[in-house]
Amino acid sequence: MSNHLPVAGQKTPERLPTDLEGEIQRLKRERNAILLAHYYQESEIQDLADVVGDSLQLARAAQKVDRDVIVFCGVHFMAETAKILNPTRKVVVPDLTAGCSLADGCPAPDFRRFLDQHPGHTVVSYINCTAEVKAMSDVICTSSNAAKIVRQLGDVPIVFAPDRHLARFVAKETKRDLVAWPGTCIVHEQFSAKALVQLKLEHGGPDGSRVEVLAHPECDESVLALADYIGSTTGIIERAVKSTSPVLIIATEPGVIHQIKKRVPDKEIIAAPGMDESCACNTCPHMRKNTLEKLYLCLRDLAPEITLEESLRLRALRPIERMLQMS
Ligand code: 13P
Ligand code: SF4
Repeated sequence: MSNHLPVAGQKTPERLPTDLEGEIQRLKRERNAILLAHYYQESEIQDLADVVGDSLQLARAAQKVDRDVIVFCGVHFMAETAKILNPTRKVVVPDLTAGCSLADGCPAPDFRRFLDQHPGHTVVSYINCTAEVKAMSDVICTSSNAAKIVRQLGDVPIVFAPDRHLARFVAKETKRDLVAWPGTCIVHEQFSAKALVQLKLEHGGPDGSRVEVLAHPECDESVLALADYIGSTTGIIERAVKSTSPVLIIATEPGVIHQIKKRVPDKEIIAAPGMDESCACNTCPHMRKNTLEKLYLCLRDLAPEITLEESLRLRALRPIERMLQMS
């Protein structure tokens, strides 16, 4: 018995082994590969990974890898960051087209024009951007260190890109003005504050203390205003573990719920509601392009591979290294 997967450009479907997990483990050893996965990957992929983490943890892990191959289960900018930090390793991804609405919404030529309109600004870019945009930046940040990095920059005018919600959150945290590129994440901007209020009322008990809302800073401010905790995916998981509330509403991609349930199985974990109840818009369509089948093929064929022109890699490396020193 074997599974079949149609592959673009091929007439006959691929024959896949039935025990995909077992084959992935075997190939991982055979290829001397490490599997890094973001929390937004489906649970089967998270469970096969050597490291599961947020963007900062995965960048740090990638930098240290001494195996021959990094298999990156996440989106393109994350795998690209791994290649920038560890260029002598082969970096492969299950699906090369797994993008990100923030990175895709900030094309390098447009960003260049935006920066030309704001001369003399220090450029802080969220890691969710392309290598070209990183190369135009002074320092990179992630959701877990953005405010910490901005605080260290002193009294200089700052351009913050590409997420305007994270920019607003950081501006509030650091009590300073930031010039924001107007990007948003399609997943985080679809949460509904109105439905969240209703859900809190249903589960919160008379004084609301039974429920906590944990949100990612990419959410709209109306959602963040209802949050008891705002932080990165790792921050949300850690807060869920520490929280004394028996009910937790999670306003980020529901992939993180897998790790939360493993660590606090007795708590009730609810995915925050979206504006359109008929759609699973809270799952990241880019992250979910990676499947077990594609992961198997990627390990078998060591493709698709992330490659980068060396001068671009070096220009993108500088602000990432600066972030790692500052966080
Ligand atoms: P984290 O760095 O918090 O994992 O966020 C990555 C991301 O893409 C959020 O949408
Ligand atoms: Fe990008 Fe949003 Fe997906 Fe995160 S959830 S990878 S920001 S599209």
